[in-house]
Amino acid sequence: MALPQQFMDELRRRVSLSSIIGKKVKLINRGNRMVGLCPFHQEKTPSFHVRDDEGYYHCFGCGASGDAITFLREQDSLSFMDAIHHLAGLANIAVPEQKDISPEEKAQRNNMAMINEEAANFYQNQLETEAGKQAKRYLNDRQVSLNSIARYRIGYAPASGLYSFLQAKGFKLDDMLAAGLVRKSTRDDDLYDNFRHRLMFPIANPRGDVIAFGGRALDVDQEPKYLNSADSPMFHKKQVLYGLKQAREQSKDKLPIIVAEGYMDVIAIDQFKVAGAVAPLGTALTEDQMMLLWKSIDTPYLCFDGDSAGQRAATKTLTRLLPILEPGKTVRVMRLEKGLDPDDLLKSGGADALRGVMDASESLVEALWSSTSADYDLNQAEQRAKFWQVMREYIRQVSNPAMRDSLSDDINARIQAMRQRPAQTTYGKTPVRTPYIGRQHASPVQNIRPRVIMAILLKHPELINDWHEELVKLNIKDGLVKKMLNIILDSVTINDYLDETTFRHHLESSGVGEKDQISLWDSIKSRIRFDPASLSKEDAEIKLKEFITLENRGTRTRSTNQF
Ligand code: UTP
Ligand code: MN
Repeated sequence: MALPQQFMDELRRRVSLSSIIGKKVKLINRGNRMVGLCPFHQEKTPSFHVRDDEGYYHCFGCGASGDAITFLREQDSLSFMDAIHHLAGLANIAVPEQKDISPEEKAQRNNMAMINEEAANFYQNQLETEAGKQAKRYLNDRQVSLNSIARYRIGYAPASGLYSFLQAKGFKLDDMLAAGLVRKSTRDDDLYDNFRHRLMFPIANPRGDVIAFGGRALDVDQEPKYLNSADSPMFHKKQVLYGLKQAREQSKDKLPIIVAEGYMDVIAIDQFKVAGAVAPLGTALTEDQMMLLWKSIDTPYLCFDGDSAGQRAATKTLTRLLPILEPGKTVRVMRLEKGLDPDDLLKSGGADALRGVMDASESLVEALWSSTSADYDLNQAEQRAKFWQVMREYIRQVSNPAMRDSLSDDINARIQAMRQRPAQTTYGKTPVRTPYIGRQHASPVQNIRPRVIMAILLKHPELINDWHEELVKLNIKDGLVKKMLNIILDSVTINDYLDETTFRHHLESSGVGEKDQISLWDSIKSRIRFDPASLSKEDAEIKLKEFITLENRGTRTRSTNQF
């Protein structure tokens, strides 16, 4: 017989893991966890994490992990029961009369793996029955291929049937309850399946063992939209990434990996062969998940919605990654159009649309820089100083010294680039905005080509360097564009980091304010068939070339006509 769960819980509650480990390892607080140098392998920077709330430790360097008992067994070479007695002594509680339960615990683990595997099989088979028809049709409507259905083992949970199926297979009720597959009514002790009339997504560990499920509602009024297995000793949702096994296969085939938000996004990205894909399970991406992913790939792509909530989420996630960055390990940041997830984008624009967003992605520093800058008016010296301070503070959060130095250089170069052109201080006066610009765009602009060129450059200032010569040669009449172009061409010679934020700052400090920029966009918006703001870098360059050629030809023709 095993030690009672109640006793084990009591032990965990009374003795904090950090008090055990803290005797051997110097631990420092970091948010909801403590970190230190791993006692199980040689290291110079701490990758050993201890969580008192979960009673678990994990080393992201060597993979060592476990609870207080594991630690005492491995570090102090205690037997299982000796570790229990040691902990009970610290907790000041008596150990119930027991035999060593280790083999039983193993059997329990095995049972969990088996029961989840059988449940996954059951759901998969149900999808092919009459009962699964609606689910099958739903998958078809959402263009999920048969191959994807098999690859992700998608299934259907009918209103009932799993309980009796598992019973017939000889599983014990306790195991079904522990796995969260069957529930007992608190009212009348009735037993019922946890997942009912849902599309089922098995959640697997990187080896492919099913450890939990996510179930999507099939009817409009069915709540919640997604029901996920509850956390258990077998399944910590904040440490698991959906689709990791399949994504690893894709990355072995040299594809990048995208971190998306949902199950359907993962499957669509994989199916369109754009990249491998993973998703957290209904929560924001955690440090644990990120470190797990970095074992498979150095630079995964993170997706965020382009709206302001998405912007905030991006800043939050990126700052959370700063303390755990290691040399070579980073992310790229993709910004999707407001309200559009990767699945939607793939369905409307195909693989190329998503690749475009990947091409237009930002580095970690770029993304942090641009999403933070949105909170400041960079035309004001004080706000600028504050913005720089915040950026420098971010970088100080990087624990790894080499990474901290390198990212700090990057930030300093950006700040330096911005300082090359401080806002014109006009003591006692408001800065003068060039008035003729305002008047000029009151009437519709005839030739929008220069404005399209400018719009592309506003979004992709990195193209300015390569196209500098061609831009200088342009003979532009449009007053607003001419002024903007002169500012740019001045900036580029002194500037390695002409990103969107710095570029805008240069424009604004030279008198081309936000209003002028908006009017530029407005004047071209309904007159071209593409949106310069959402072009990938490659497409932006193609369009830029096209419009420069057109403009050169256009001005030549016109001058011949005129003279
Ligand atoms: P979304 O609501 O964005 O849905 O949830 P989705 O992934 O685009 O799904 P479809 O396309 O409508 O089918 C994103 C993720 O958040 C979690 C799930 O993991 C989901 O994939 N989620 C969402 C929940 O856990 N519970 C919910 O009720 C809703
Ligand atoms: Mn979706």
